[in-house]
Amino acid sequence: MSNPWLAIALEDYEGHMGSDNVRQLEALSDLFKRALDLCSPESVAVLGVAGGNGLQRVDSAITKRIIGLDINARYLEAVRQRYGALPGLELCCADLADKHLSLAPVELVHAALFFEHTGLGRCLENALFLVAPGGKLSVVLQLPSEAEQDVTPTPYSSMQALRDCFALIDVSQFCRKLEGKGFHLFQQEQRSLPTGKAFWLGIFAHRTR
Ligand SMILES: C[S@@+](CC[C@H](N)C(=O)[O-])C[C@H]1O[C@@H](n2cnc3c(N)ncnc32)[C@H](O)[C@@H]1O
Repeated sequence: MSNPWLAIALEDYEGHMGSDNVRQLEALSDLFKRALDLCSPESVAVLGVAGGNGLQRVDSAITKRIIGLDINARYLEAVRQRYGALPGLELCCADLADKHLSLAPVELVHAALFFEHTGLGRCLENALFLVAPGGKLSVVLQLPSEAEQDVTPTPYSSMQALRDCFALIDVSQFCRKLEGKGFHLFQQEQRSLPTGKAFWLGIFAHRTR
């Protein structure tokens, strides 16, 4: 089955995420900045980079290598047009649920609102594989709430194609799974959204690295 993200225009994704009743783009950008501030990585990989939300927050004096990964080549082309001048930017088009990555590892792997769409199989393996010795994984998960759990209705109806392949991930189970893989949680925080939903940011470090 083809990945539904391949059929969604970036304008629709960003229009949806920026809609008054969603308003998630700014929060995701802020949480990426928070992870950068907490980890000060010399290199970072953003899984599911979409249109590059948050890349304007990278401090090039600290972070010299930035890899944006996504399954959608048109999104990456938009990132190239928007952020091509960012020193050290590399873009990689890959289905992270399908193939094993063979990239040089980075100090910080950031995956925001990503595993809800991909599941925790090969994509999580790839995420952990990309973490360099001594490096970290930062993850943003959407928390359960009283508010609408599905893809919020907006004028961008193409987004509703994601309904059947979006599943919330339980934070406790996720942390236990990462513990089992040798990664411990060393920082976590929550961010409420004006719409009633909330995000959880967790930063994990490898025990033995
Ligand atoms: C909800 S967006 C991530 C949010 C984004 N990080 C932000 O801050 O706006 C999910 C992204 O993951 C990408 N994606 C979904 N499945 C993927 C897969 N199997 N491999 C790589 N990228 C995938 C989509 O194309 C999309 O850009």
